[in-house]
Amino acid sequence: MNYYVLTLFPQMIEEGMNTSITGRAIEKELIHLTAIDIRDYSTNKHKKVDDYPYGGGAGMVMQAEPVYGAYKAVLEQVKKKPRVIYLTPQGATFHQTMAEEFAQEENLVFLCGHYEGIDERVLEEIVTDHVSIGDYVLTGGELPAMVMMDTISRLIPGVLNNDISAETESFHDNLLEYPQYSRPEIWNGKKVPEVLMSGHHKNIETWRREQSIFRTLERRPDLIEKASLTSKEKKLIQT
Ligand code: ADE
Repeated sequence: MNYYVLTLFPQMIEEGMNTSITGRAIEKELIHLTAIDIRDYSTNKHKKVDDYPYGGGAGMVMQAEPVYGAYKAVLEQVKKKPRVIYLTPQGATFHQTMAEEFAQEENLVFLCGHYEGIDERVLEEIVTDHVSIGDYVLTGGELPAMVMMDTISRLIPGVLNNDISAETESFHDNLLEYPQYSRPEIWNGKKVPEVLMSGHHKNIETWRREQSIFRTLERRPDLIEKASLTSKEKKLIQT
């Protein structure tokens, strides 16, 4: 997977991504990260990249040409036109299935905006996907780009030590994951649920599935309608 991030703050991307699991994935060359400084493509002698909005209003708008220059620098490094994700609160809300789909790509370009946005004309020219990470407004697209890259990276084979089991992860089949326990057996007077100590795999599986269902019902009732439950399980939650 090759990530290209078009940004005014390449250092923020590099420092964030070169840490922890994504950092190790970069070292192992399972993912490649190129942060491209949009300012390097300014055509202005003062390296300016923004200007006042036509029609008036607060704030500044990122100009089209430096963004386009940064994008063209990416095109020189790839064989076919890559998907270009613009991080914006006006995009479709990011979710696990979207991450799974993006993880299939060979190259992904993330375009990070700042100020009051980017000149619409360059967005029309290069952006293939408008994505938001939730209904709140951040100061720029860098953190959202890192949220997406983190989520996508852990789906790439070899990035996690124990390859994730798609079966048990949160959001698989629209259910949240069951609770986990580790040693000691008693902590702060609280005992690990008996069934987990039993070694009885079938019972453990049943208990975990029920926990997933109850937890989803309590914390994310909006998801449970989309989960495929057996008729026995449906009865269980009706009681
Ligand atoms: N830029 C600012 N806020 C954002 C959000 N919620 N998602 C994606 N990009 C953003």
